[in-house]
Order: sequence, then C-alpha cells, then structure tokens
Amino acid sequence: MEKDFKRTLVTAALPYANGGVHIGHLAGVYVPADIYVRYQRLKKKDVLFVCGSDEHGVPITLLAKKKGCSPQEIVDHYHKLIRDSFEQFGISFDVFGRTTSKTHYQTASDFFRTLYDKGEFVEKESEQYYDEEAHTFLADRYITGECPHCHAEGAYGDQCEKCGTALSPTELINPKSAVSGSKPVLRKTRHWYLPLDKHQAWLEPWITEQHKEWRSNVMGQCKSWFDMGLQPRAVSRDLDWGIPVPVEGADGKVLYVWFDAPIGYISNTKELLPDTWETWWKDPSTRLVHFIGKDNIVFHCIVFPAMLRAEGSYILPDNVPANEFLNLEDRKISTSRNWAVWLHEYLEELPGKQDVLRYVLTANAPETKDNNFTWKDFQARNNNELVAVYGNFVNRALVLTQKYFDGVVPAAGELTEYDLATIREFTDVKTQVERLLDEFRFRDAQKEAMNLARIGNKYLADSEPWKVIKTDPERVKTILNIAIQLVANLAVAFEPFLPFSSSRLREMLAVGPIDWDRLGSTDLIEAGHKLGTPALLFEKIEDDVIDFQVNKLKEAERRNAEANYRANPVKADISFDDFEKLDIRVGTVLECERVPKADKLLRFLIADGLDNRTIVSGIAQHYKPEELVGKQVCFIANLPPRKLRGIESQGMILSAENFDGSLSVVTTLSEVKPGSEVK
Ligand code: MF3
Ligand code: ZN
Repeated sequence: MEKDFKRTLVTAALPYANGGVHIGHLAGVYVPADIYVRYQRLKKKDVLFVCGSDEHGVPITLLAKKKGCSPQEIVDHYHKLIRDSFEQFGISFDVFGRTTSKTHYQTASDFFRTLYDKGEFVEKESEQYYDEEAHTFLADRYITGECPHCHAEGAYGDQCEKCGTALSPTELINPKSAVSGSKPVLRKTRHWYLPLDKHQAWLEPWITEQHKEWRSNVMGQCKSWFDMGLQPRAVSRDLDWGIPVPVEGADGKVLYVWFDAPIGYISNTKELLPDTWETWWKDPSTRLVHFIGKDNIVFHCIVFPAMLRAEGSYILPDNVPANEFLNLEDRKISTSRNWAVWLHEYLEELPGKQDVLRYVLTANAPETKDNNFTWKDFQARNNNELVAVYGNFVNRALVLTQKYFDGVVPAAGELTEYDLATIREFTDVKTQVERLLDEFRFRDAQKEAMNLARIGNKYLADSEPWKVIKTDPERVKTILNIAIQLVANLAVAFEPFLPFSSSRLREMLAVGPIDWDRLGSTDLIEAGHKLGTPALLFEKIEDDVIDFQVNKLKEAERRNAEANYRANPVKADISFDDFEKLDIRVGTVLECERVPKADKLLRFLIADGLDNRTIVSGIAQHYKPEELVGKQVCFIANLPPRKLRGIESQGMILSAENFDGSLSVVTTLSEVKPGSEVK
C-alpha cells in the first residue's frame, strides 16, 4: 500500500476562533496529528505540520454582537488563546496561521476566481430568510421554530434536535430569527454553487476503490453521501464578515467559511514557505494527510478534494484519519453548556501535567467509536500506569544504579537465558510501534511503548538485584545494564507520545537525543556513562484534585439547569370543593431527627395546637435535623396515617422543589400559633 512519497504534509483541522480548545479537540485531532508528525521527524522524514485558526463564520459575528465588540477583536483574542494552549501541550506545528491574514485573503480570493473563470461554479437564485430588524440574511442555524414533524418548539432551520429530522428553514412553523427574535421574511438572493453532483463520477471511485485503506468510519460516511447522491453546495453567503466574493456586483457577499477555511491550509503553508510551498501542495510525490474529527469528514473527503480538483494543479489527500467523538463523564461535550475540560484551564489547574493528559487521551482515543473521558479514569491511568508502571520502573533502575555504582552505568557480563529472553521481548518494539503508527493506530502504538516498562518491571522483580548484590555483585552489573538500556528505550519509544517526559528522562540519563532507529537495541547507553540525578518522572494524583474537577463539572451542570429552567405546565382544574377538603396547617417543630438506616427520612414531632403529631418526611438530604427545630412548617393535616420504616406518619410537610431537585420547606412570613390553618 505504501506508495513512494518523498514528503508528508500533515494538516490538523483549523479550530474556530470563537472559543478555547477542549479535550475533545485534543483527543480527536491534535494529539494524534502531533504523534504522527513527531514520529515522521524522528524517522528523519520530510514532514510539514500545518494548522491555524478558522476566523470566519456566523457564530463569530454573533459572539461579537453579544460581547459588544468587533469580530476581529473576538478572533484576535481566541487566536492567541488557542495558539498558546497548543504550544503548551507540545503540539508541534510548523506554522499556526490565521484565516484573517493578508496571505489568506489573497489565496482564497484567487482560488475562488480561478474556479469562477474556469466555469466550475453554477450560479443560482433562491429565496432565503432575511431578518429585517438586524438587516441580515439568516444562516439555517439561526432560524428557530416549531418542528413540522414532532411539533417541538425550538427546532433549528437545519435540524430538529428533539426528533433528529433534517430540516430546511422554510419547513419550520412560525420561524423566528435567533439574531433579533423577529419574524424573518423570504428574500431572493444569488449564490455560487460547487456542483458536487458533477464531481461524484470521479470522487466515488477515487475513495471507494483507490482508498480502500481509509478508516471504516470515514469510508462509511463517504459512501452514505454517495448513496444519497451529492448535491450542489453554495460556496458564498450574504454576510458582512468574511472574504468578499471577488466578482463584479457581488457586494455584501462573502465566501462561505467552509470554502475559505480549508484553503487556510494552503495559505498558512505559503506564509511559512513563500518560495517552496508549491512543492508541498502540487508535487505528486507529496503525501497529504488531514487529521480531523468526524463532523468534518464530508468537507475533507468530498468538498475540499472537489475544490482542489476543480482548480486543477493541486494534489489530493492520501488519507483522512478522522476520529469519532470523545464524551466527557458519559455525556456529549458541549461548549455552550460548558460541559468540557478546557485546555487553558487544565494548564492552570494541573500545571506540568500536559503529558498525563496526552497519555490518557491517547489511551482513550476515539479511533473506531465514540469514547469516554472520566476524571476517575484519568486518575487511575496516571496512578496505576504512568506512576506505578513507567515511573516506578525508571525510578528503580536509576536509583539502584546510583546506589550500587554511583550512577555510573555498569558493563554487562555474560547474559543468562533469562536476560536473553527479556531482550528478545523488546527487540521488535520498533517494528511494532512503527507498524501501528503507520496505520494511525495510536492507542495500540502507545500500549506497545508502555509494554517496555512492564517488561522492565518484571525483569527487576524476577532478577532481584537488591538481593543478588549481597552474593554476586558482578551479576547485578549485568542486570542494571539491561535495565538502563530499557529505560533509554522508553525515552525513545515515548518521544512521539509524551515529549516532555522523554526529555526529562533524557536529562536524568544525562544523554542527548537518541536516534529513533536504535529503538529496540541494548547498546543505547555505554558502560561507564555517568547518569544524571534520578527524580520522579510522574506524580501520584490525589483524590482532592479529581474531586475539584468533578465538582467544577457539577457546578456547570447546575448553572445550565438554572438557565434552562421552565415551570411545569399547570395540572387539570379542580373544583373549589376539592380545595376546601384539604386541611393545611402551620406547626412548630419540637423535635427532629434522622430515621436510622434511611438516608432520606427525618422524623418530626410537630406542635399542632392539639396533641402534637409525628410526621416522617423525605427531606433528610436537604436539611440537618437541628436546623429545623423551632422552625414553623406547613403540613397537610387530614391525610390518612402511613407507616414509614415502622414509624406512623400523621401528615405531610410541604416543600418546594427547586430547579435542581433541592427541597425547601414551606413556612410563614411571620410566626403564627401552631395549628393555624392555611387558606
Ligand atoms: N473550524 C472547523 C471546525 O472546527 C474546521 C475547519 S477545518 C478546515 O469544525 F479545513 F476547514 F480548515
Ligand atoms: Zn422534531
């Protein structure tokens, strides 16, 4: 399958500059892309890693409106935030550009113009919703209304999230503009379309026959688009934020963000290599690989290739290893609901732990199906794998060498059968890791690297140098030589995955970069070499750190519940007589205590102006018993008695249920005599 390419151009999806980057982005796109690129560099292959921010599109204009600033100010802010987060996580782009750069405006404009001049577009008039208050055409997402299928309110112009049906905005009942809230009107407008229907004839065999090696999730999506039949796609929009359509009389029209953004890969390459960029984009001996998330598949496998082919002088992608989604604590990551772990916050709250996140995200990479990130799993992988396996082995090997040989690597003597068996176990690590990385199987590749530490731990445990030192110090020299070679192998093998740790480990070994090609050998460190000072490579993560993160998510959830709270519809009418039958009274709490072995129940003794009564109430999770003693509560006095946990409850205490499920006891504004009736 491996064609004879001279160089590899790796792109990672350009993140929208209207928010930060979260772990879903990192796991799905940037960590795997970075591993791949670092691996290519280690193999001394010619590789270029291109990314940047995607700074157009409607959401940016809406955010600007909401914040009362210009779209440019929004993208300036987020461009820096995103760029810095990536840099701190060691995502080693060769260039991180912007789609508001001059180079990009020129490149995207020229690209459009070339296609226009070649007659590659069709021009069509259509009716689209227009917001007369905000003076703007409305993108499908910014029109809401009643779903024509399930009649749910708040369906979007492109989809009803309740029943999942795909919609077009004109199908919505009672459409409303999400920008101004006004009722939109239909207006005629002209746009340019890329006739994908005409491209299907070459796109389909190109993917389904010539690229059978693409991931099955990617292939599946492409096939389903082909089966539905490709449709022309508009590549312009009526908007005032974007790259003006470079055609006479196209005032007020800009390039659709999904037209200009992928061209950003090209402009950012140009920005870095103004003289040689074409080698990377036009020479058929360049291999182009796009790293993206699954929501970007159609754009990178179908639309962008069609654009490139229509232009005529560009190469097409050789592979598009798209990932599925990463969930967070069993729920879909949502930026609007703040159900996310943001990189810039992680960096502040877990400083120096970039490699831990890189490790966990790769171990859980959503390569073939959606996967889940939980803070408990994060803690467990750190404590049980990075600390207990990798860190522990490295530490034992280095500390023992320090202790017995003053940190000078001893020479190996004669090897035993067991030594040879151990060595055989890791000599093919390079072949294994490379095969997996070549197939974009990052989680399995990382497992192979980790396996070196498992082998090392087992070797030390079995050969027990701490005992043997008393009887046969010569033997210990061999054991520790092999152990140190394994440590050095770990530094090399983890280089693409955990670059910060590899570099710290090399410091402890007091060595410079080690050739990737020597991975798997037993002569990485010479006998007689003086090692550096051993230190802990990873630290245990305690419960409080994890609790803090989990609570932060719970807090976000609470704020969402509050923002989305709506009172329940009123129940069916009752008669006045029904109401009069209810006997609601005020009582004073004389005693209140927990009901043993029932975590929800409190037992009350209530002064009711008559004989006092016992009431059992399910509010133990909302109050401490002593808080309620002396307080006045309202209760229903004429319910039949009920036995709860063997206690007879004579009535029901009234509480209000808040949006988050918490209960608040109903009381009176001023103190009244026990037994007063509520009317
Ligand atoms: N900004 C898009 C997203 O986050 C990705 C753009 S990728 C590019 O989904 F190819 F258009 F650049
Ligand atoms: Zn619906």
